[in-house]
Amino acid sequence: MNAVAKMPKTAKERGKVAPAKLAHVVLRTPPERVGLVLDWYKKVLEAEAMFETEGFGFVSYDTEHHRVAVLGFPGIKEHVDGHAGMHHMAFTYENLGDLMHTYNRIKDEHDIRPEFCINHGPTTSMYYFDPDKNQVELQVDNIPEEKFEEYFANGEFTSNPIGIKFDPEELSARLAAGESEESLLQRPDGIPPDLNEFPAN
Ligand SMILES: [Fe+2]
Repeated sequence: MNAVAKMPKTAKERGKVAPAKLAHVVLRTPPERVGLVLDWYKKVLEAEAMFETEGFGFVSYDTEHHRVAVLGFPGIKEHVDGHAGMHHMAFTYENLGDLMHTYNRIKDEHDIRPEFCINHGPTTSMYYFDPDKNQVELQVDNIPEEKFEEYFANGEFTSNPIGIKFDPEELSARLAAGESEESLLQRPDGIPPDLNEFPAN
């Protein structure tokens, strides 16, 4: 298995016209659950409603007019595990302090807990399920952008491209005790979990 030795150039650097940004995610749910699902994203992402009406709404947490929208479709079927399609959406926090703050806030205030926590190497990632079992990753980058190439060349990722699981309570406590983010973001040695340990959705 080989990792790329160099970060590829951006589409723009290659002279191509590509999207300026990834804009939003739109989810569908039964009409009676729109409020519940929107509420979950408001709580988890510190988002606020930009527009909300019977059976439809969208929320944002920054200057984008909508980041997550939820549409109610009458007669829509319930989520079924194991179908092709999107596995998860991911949101990146500025630093580990913000990620751990969010972990503790949504656990303490809303009893929302991650299903699976793993240090992939490039990211420290916590996977949650929304009320419809869409999987949402909250993460922080472990490697500063200018060190990506160095990191992918050092063999750590190639030797284990899955990661090492972590206990968020322990990570949160170590951060609160004053351990540096830089050392806490380093992936510890260990055995990667089996792929089927990842929560199914
Ligand atoms: Fe991801």
